[in-house]
Amino acid sequence: MSIAEAARLIRAGELVAFPTETVYGLGGDATNARAVAKIFEAKGRPQFNPLISHVAGASDARRLVQWNTTADKLAAKFWPGPLTLVLPRAAGSPIALLATAGLDTVAIRAPAHPMAQALIAAAGVPIAAPSANRSGAVSPTRAEHVAESLGDKVAMILDGGPCTVGVESTVLDLTSERPVLLRPGGATREAIEAVIGPVALSDALPSGGAARKSPGQLRSHYAPGRPVRLEATSVSADEGLLAFGPRPLAGARKTLNLSVAGDLGEAAANLFADLRALDRPDIVRIAVMPVPHSGLGLAINDRLRRAAADDGSGSGG
Ligand code: TXA
Ligand code: MG
Repeated sequence: MSIAEAARLIRAGELVAFPTETVYGLGGDATNARAVAKIFEAKGRPQFNPLISHVAGASDARRLVQWNTTADKLAAKFWPGPLTLVLPRAAGSPIALLATAGLDTVAIRAPAHPMAQALIAAAGVPIAAPSANRSGAVSPTRAEHVAESLGDKVAMILDGGPCTVGVESTVLDLTSERPVLLRPGGATREAIEAVIGPVALSDALPSGGAARKSPGQLRSHYAPGRPVRLEATSVSADEGLLAFGPRPLAGARKTLNLSVAGDLGEAAANLFADLRALDRPDIVRIAVMPVPHSGLGLAINDRLRRAAADDGSGSGG
């Protein structure tokens, strides 16, 4: 009953908190950028961190990411369970760019909690879900924790009792030759190595530097190939314009509007896709109109600043 209602809410673009075996997740339709924007808004995240997409199992994952034999071995052993795999986005993958913070990789996991499995099956879409706490707070392992911090931000909280694992999933990057442990978690390094052999720790990698301090920052800067100019108050004919609001500047080669209505949720949902669309050969520079620094605007401006920084730290996506 409540699962069916929760699934309906997910399909309608609403947020549902649900139990997994690790921690409670704040779930939204991973293929719906507006729903994903709501997740960041509810968490009060200062920036767009890439999110984990939750699926029923390996057959679902194959349609979303470029699956490989290492992933196959790991899924056979650990799924459903507390192991998240980072893999290249599949061609035509329906996962919203905002869910992966513009990256060309997707973090994917099949949770073991029966209620999570039931919700994913009933919703029929991959569910993007960070831990269901406000940014910077401790991950919730009981429905009451979620109600305390996010109760007014979600359409529904599914109560599945206390989480059995209690720490977040292990995040393993399978996009480089040697698998890299990005975040230790519910599946141990030893157990993973028993299946696929040696795994590198993200800190031990060469050419790391500050960018590798935390998993959320690892290769998580989407930067377009073309320079980005912020706070534009005029635009030239060889520039692409990323506009915001009802009065876009005139004169650009190509204009895309993050939100004609000036809606920050809509702007967040369009941000990465619009940046990519303007990153094309006939445009020398991307000019960006000012976006307010309130609410989701903080995260939008954070990403825009990174895109404009041009320090070579971007993944290029
Ligand atoms: O146990 C868990 O993993 C819980 C439950 C709800 O599944 N979820 C969770 O999500 O802990 P979150 O958003 O709090 O943490 C996701 C982690 C972050 O460290 C993020 O940087 C990393 O996964 N991540 C997500 N997508 C990534 C990607 N494409 N590349 C590298 N790291 C990624
Ligand atoms: Mg978290």
